Amino acid sequence: MSRLVPAELKRLTKAATKARDNAYCPYSNHPVGAAIQSESGKVFIGCNVENAHYNCTHAEASAISAMVAAGARRIKAIVIIGPSSEYLCTPCGDCRQRIREFSDGKVKVYCLWKSGRLGKVYDFDDLLPDSFGPENLAELGKGPKTKKKPAK
Ligand code: THU
Ligand code: ZN
Repeated sequence: MSRLVPAELKRLTKAATKARDNAYCPYSNHPVGAAIQSESGKVFIGCNVENAHYNCTHAEASAISAMVAAGARRIKAIVIIGPSSEYLCTPCGDCRQRIREFSDGKVKVYCLWKSGRLGKVYDFDDLLPDSFGPENLAELGKGPKTKKKPAK
């Protein structure tokens, strides 16, 4: 999967930043925004949403829900922006598995500094190596129909 062209990255950065600025996180004060570009080229956004039970929906999970609800299923790239200029907001373990469901290993994960400046770009495989995914169940005749194993 190829990188985003600069105009696409700019668009996703703007979308993720806007979502981050709408995050509802009065408990952690750690706002996160995510913007997904699907393989069809559409953009879906999400932010973290906390509640008094100290539970929360993560930004990446929100963006994935928006994508699936709109009928798209494949992630081309995801941009994540947190509130820090010191620690990049990389996706947590749970979000990595959620991204995995709709990605192959070459999907690009762009992590941005608070300002929107690009911090680091990851190949998804480097964030979740040797991952467990739909193919493991497809082998047993279960789960979604998948064409092939994600690229190594
Ligand atoms: N957060 C995300 O939205 N995504 C991640 O993958 C890392 C953490 C949010 C959840 C919580 O609202 C806050 O950041 C602190 O953990
Ligand atoms: Zn997460």
